[in-house]
Amino acid sequence: MPKKLLAIGDINVDIMMGGLASLPQVDREVTCESFEITMGSSAAIFACAYASLGGRISFLGLAGNDAYGDYMLQGMKDFGIETELVRRTDRVKTGVTVNLIYRNTRSQVTYPGTIAEFSGSDVDEKILGLINHVHFAGPYQQTRFRPDITRLLRLAKDRGVTTSLDPQWDASGRWEYMAEWLPLLDYLFVNQDEAMSISGASGIEAACTWLAARTSCPLVKAGADGVYLNDGDKVMHVPGRAVQVVDTTGAGDTFDAAFLFERMDGSKAPAEAAVFANAAAARSCLFVGGVAARSSYQDVVGLLTERGN
Ligand SMILES: Nc1ncnc2c1ncn2[C@@H]1O[C@H](COP(=O)(O)OP(=O)(O)OP(=O)(O)O)[C@@H](O)[C@H]1O
Ligand SMILES: [Mg+2]
Repeated sequence: MPKKLLAIGDINVDIMMGGLASLPQVDREVTCESFEITMGSSAAIFACAYASLGGRISFLGLAGNDAYGDYMLQGMKDFGIETELVRRTDRVKTGVTVNLIYRNTRSQVTYPGTIAEFSGSDVDEKILGLINHVHFAGPYQQTRFRPDITRLLRLAKDRGVTTSLDPQWDASGRWEYMAEWLPLLDYLFVNQDEAMSISGASGIEAACTWLAARTSCPLVKAGADGVYLNDGDKVMHVPGRAVQVVDTTGAGDTFDAAFLFERMDGSKAPAEAAVFANAAAARSCLFVGGVAARSSYQDVVGLLTERGN
């Protein structure tokens, strides 16, 4: 039986408005060239990427009793994700992020809805006895759930379940609970801005070193530059895979999923898993939105064995 992963986190749709004629202006209407509704949220994009590679994954989160909730659940099922643990609610609507893409900039407006409403009471702890790894994504928008994460990480550790977390950005800059989470994590996934904000360090390598003194294996994602990681010894840089980028939405979550997919059976070293993860993340940049790449294992291997880079 392949090892099983559980993703816990946010559920929201992404509304992508591409090719804006100009940045939005107060009391004016601007038009755009393209419009799409796609599956969003750090945790759901992560789960879709993991399932596309062929991994067994279950999702735990909260969706609204509305059309977008149906859309997200059906989408996850179509990817082969187990969704029995997703709760539904009438209290708020499913979260929505509107992405306004103007030239190479992306401005986002989010209705948090189910993202902020999700709480520890939606989690049945028995699940921790049935999985091998648990991944938390996007806790800084999950205001009600955030205080429960330390307890769940401890429970996971007690049961021999490995753990990871991708905090995404904390707009308050306070990184509440991070100090409690770091020692309980097998892997911490952050990008360079997040790493520098959490550590107070002014460079990416210094931030990675600071994190490695507090957590088992920090991975600091650096966009086209790939990733910096430290699994105990020293900071290693694994360069990114050069591609003609279309849209980077979800690249970070895809990186996390592909890295864990490679690490789950323990046969690949972290630096080796990072090479694969960079390629999976780069491939996700060739498509609009977070889940359109649908990269299979072979797709990623194909990109890795292409000439160039
Ligand atoms: N322009 C790019 N070219 C090639 N690979 C890229 C590019 N941008 C991102 N990637 C790949 O995606 C990974 C994650 O990207 P990034 O550093 O933007 O993380 P992130 O900020 O967590 O992403 P997200 O916005 O999805 O949360 C990188 O480590 C790299 O492997
Ligand atoms: Mg990220």
